[in-house]
Amino acid sequence: MSENGITTAGGAHGGSGEALRPHAEVAFAHELAALAAADDRPRPERWRLSPWAVATYLLGGTLADGTVITPKYVGPRRIVEVAVTTLATDRALLLLGVPGTAKTWMSEHLAAAVSGDSTLLVQGTAGTPEEAIRYGWNYARLLAQGPSVDALVPGPVMRAMAQGMTARVEELTRIPADVQDTLITLLSEKTLPIPELGQEVQAVHGFNLIATANDRDRGVNDLSSALRRRFNTVVLPLPATPEDEVDIVARRVAQIGSSLRLPPAPQGMEEIRRVVTVFRELRDGVTTDGRTKLKSPSGTLSTAEAISVVTSGLALATHFGDGVLRPGDVAAGILGAVVRDPAADRVVWQEYLETVVRERDGWKDFYRACREVGA
Ligand SMILES: Nc1ncnc2c1ncn2[C@@H]1O[C@H](COP(=O)(O)OP(=O)(O)OP(=O)(O)O)[C@@H](O)[C@H]1O
Ligand SMILES: [Mg+2]
Repeated sequence: MSENGITTAGGAHGGSGEALRPHAEVAFAHELAALAAADDRPRPERWRLSPWAVATYLLGGTLADGTVITPKYVGPRRIVEVAVTTLATDRALLLLGVPGTAKTWMSEHLAAAVSGDSTLLVQGTAGTPEEAIRYGWNYARLLAQGPSVDALVPGPVMRAMAQGMTARVEELTRIPADVQDTLITLLSEKTLPIPELGQEVQAVHGFNLIATANDRDRGVNDLSSALRRRFNTVVLPLPATPEDEVDIVARRVAQIGSSLRLPPAPQGMEEIRRVVTVFRELRDGVTTDGRTKLKSPSGTLSTAEAISVVTSGLALATHFGDGVLRPGDVAAGILGAVVRDPAADRVVWQEYLETVVRERDGWKDFYRACREVGA
């Protein structure tokens, strides 16, 4: 790393282990190395691991030498198998789902496991230009020398094509339709022409692309059917059971907490269960016992938001409490996540608070904490 803190992009080669959020291939380098050593199944050309080992990396397991691989994705095994297999074909992978269903998370870990580098990334926005997907120019060189290979600045997708790696495009449907179209030729012809130089870059074996798109954003820039046909779509579901969701939240909070240097909070499970219960009940519009119908608030109340409510609660407990996660530490966060629209959502919350929370056994402290922060 240089004095100004700039490192070369490129995952395992560049990312520092001290980074606030290291890339997946750095954070889980030991697991990836152990998997590569144990993996004797055939690997597609330029893949770091076999498809089986990539799936094991994502779903977790114990290797013959005793190395424990932590689960990254909690969900149906088949989904992971289909996603990994797609990457070994000539079709690209589209991860679709409501917000907070681990689309970005899975995309990063897939790229880390398959190519050892999750940083060949295009972040899709309404302002993403074609150059972000193809290539740009170093203007000083361009002016001095005219168009040349030296003056060309390849984008992440172009680099992935040339090196046989996994490229990632985040939030595909936010990208304007004409820019999306750039991907159509690229994915069907597997070449990227450079008319200025009369040259082209041909994708080599190992290249593929993972895109993510959010269900709720549909309509911003719908995917053209031509582009959609270039992708195998995998829909990531919300966690099937409360236990799954509690497991995901607990795992991620422990990981994030340790990177924020927060002490572990083994006694926090009760509050994690509570946050997940509240989120699921409001999301589903019915209490867990199926007895009371509820109105749903306008926010998404995703697993990702549950993770951040608990993480903030843990920070509160650490800095202003005795380090034990209590109802008062999560109440404000829950209220903030539920009440997005101050008028309508507040009514929904009040009704839930008075009809469900207040009557539930063992929830008195939580009821009181909620009244304190938001009555
Ligand atoms: N099924 C799951 N397994 C493991 N982690 C999960 C799961 N669902 C959600 N998460 C966690 O939720 C967090 C948010 O996920 P991520 O940012 O990937 O969501 P997303 O689907 O990309 O959302 P958005 O549509 O808002 O971009 C991650 O920290 C991830 O670990
Ligand atoms: Mg995302």
